[in-house]
Amino acid sequence: MTTTLEHSSYNYKVVRQFTVMTVIWGIVGTLVGVLIAAQLIWPALNFDTPWLTYSRLRPLHTNAVIFAFGTSALFATSYYIVQRTCKTTLFGGQLAAFTFWGWQAVIVLAAITLPLGYTSSKEYAELEWPIDILIAVVWVSYAIVFFGTLVKRKTSHIYVANWFLGGFIITVAVLHIGNSMVVPVSLTKSYSLYSGAIDAMMQWWYGHNAVGFLLTAGFLGMMYYFVPKQAERPVYSYRLSIVHFWALVSLYIWAGPHHLHYTALPDWAQSVGMVMSVVLFLPSWGGMINGIMTLSGAWHKLRNDPILRFLIVSLSFYGMSTFEGPMMAIKSVNALSHYTDWTVGHVHSGALGWVAMISIGAMYHLIPILFNQGRMYSIRLINIHFWIHTAGIILYIVAMWISGVMQGLMWRAVNTDGTLTYSFVESLTASYPFYFIRFLGGVLVVAGFILMAYNMFKTIAAKDNSLKAVEAA
Ligand code: HEM
Ligand code: HEM
Repeated sequence: MTTTLEHSSYNYKVVRQFTVMTVIWGIVGTLVGVLIAAQLIWPALNFDTPWLTYSRLRPLHTNAVIFAFGTSALFATSYYIVQRTCKTTLFGGQLAAFTFWGWQAVIVLAAITLPLGYTSSKEYAELEWPIDILIAVVWVSYAIVFFGTLVKRKTSHIYVANWFLGGFIITVAVLHIGNSMVVPVSLTKSYSLYSGAIDAMMQWWYGHNAVGFLLTAGFLGMMYYFVPKQAERPVYSYRLSIVHFWALVSLYIWAGPHHLHYTALPDWAQSVGMVMSVVLFLPSWGGMINGIMTLSGAWHKLRNDPILRFLIVSLSFYGMSTFEGPMMAIKSVNALSHYTDWTVGHVHSGALGWVAMISIGAMYHLIPILFNQGRMYSIRLINIHFWIHTAGIILYIVAMWISGVMQGLMWRAVNTDGTLTYSFVESLTASYPFYFIRFLGGVLVVAGFILMAYNMFKTIAAKDNSLKAVEAA
């Protein structure tokens, strides 16, 4: 009875829509990832077709996984969390529905224009100006819905997850609008308002904070709600979560220049970026420990709850990538890692390990609630998903670490007469076995997403509460 009342008083429709699209975009984005991973081994897979070339599909992959899959997961969970923790329905009536359809339109436009070769050429901000304007309109609407709901909350306190989500929403708006300032010359072509080193600085202020606020703060909001819920334990230290929030947001915003070491950017700016990145290790690990320790007294639940396993292992990957990141930000380490597959390994331990696993865990928690079921159709399939996803990530990142360090060492090796020991092609040939291992890892990840979609649609198709009855029996 309580469940029915709750269901009718919250706006779950938009949460359901974003949830289903998260799983679908998860399949699409990782499939494109597997295709480009395969193209790096078998270049003929571009079929001599311009819109299937690596250079066009790579941004399609990054846009699909970050903005279609990851951001849909953020929309779904933030709309759910803000309603539940504020004990009120979403503010703004149809505005939430507009954000759903508007965001899907952005994704479809990206999927059409990127393969056609329309690009601003700024990484993670490739879309051309008309689409950028649509993104800004949708994002500001999102902010109105989210903050409007906070304002009309029926609770006195604003739960910490909302601080992270609010921080993510405001910062992404500022970053997107700041970095997308261009002079349009036609509907499909524009030039950045910034030039030279300033343009690079703006781009990586945006790029790094897209990592810091979208791929990190937003997902930390998800973590602070779903880990305690799934573990049925309060957050380990609420005080630490507040320190975590303020320390993270005040440090992240300075770290962008670590993407521009040894470039035309002034040296002092590079050093500021390096120092801030190293210090960033502390709040990141504080947050990771806070999440993992939430399981205190409930460790045994990990044994038979694969959803909790997704959530907790995601935190381990978060810890790993936020240890590795500060290391790579040190200039002398970056001199080895930059331009190599080491960066790609770091990215995917964050992306597949942290971002994808926390989202998958949150989706498995949400789907039965949203579709009026007591649990997912098959817990066994969630368990299989957990293992193949984990195996896939390990294959991916270990392969990239080895090939990355190998490439870095081969490129800097010199003979006694000062000439290079290896040609670039030799380093490429040496990388092929690792590209193949990455490809296999990617296939496992996609297979996991397909299992998830099957499990989701079976759950949706089941009669109301019939799965709960199975569980009770
Ligand atoms: C304390 C936290 C972190 C720090 C200090 C950090 C630092 C770094 C550094 C130094 C690079 C290499 C830059 C280069 O040589 O070009 C990098 C790349 C990257 N990191 Fe992190 N990282 C952190 C956490 C994360 C997390 C959690 C993710 C989540 C997915 C992530 C995603 C990325 C991405 C996408 C890139 C590649 C950017 C590009 O060149 O396209 N990082 N990071
Ligand atoms: C099946 C899973 C995946 C596969 C096989 C895959 C494969 C790839 C490949 C081959 C690249 C290009 C690397 C290069 O240019 O050397 C790449 C880049 C990238 N992928 Fe994935 N990917 C997968 C999942 C994901 C997910 C889930 C995310 C984010 C949530 C993600 C985010 C990125 C990013 C940010 C980059 C750019 C990295 C950089 O510039 O350093 N990927 N991926």
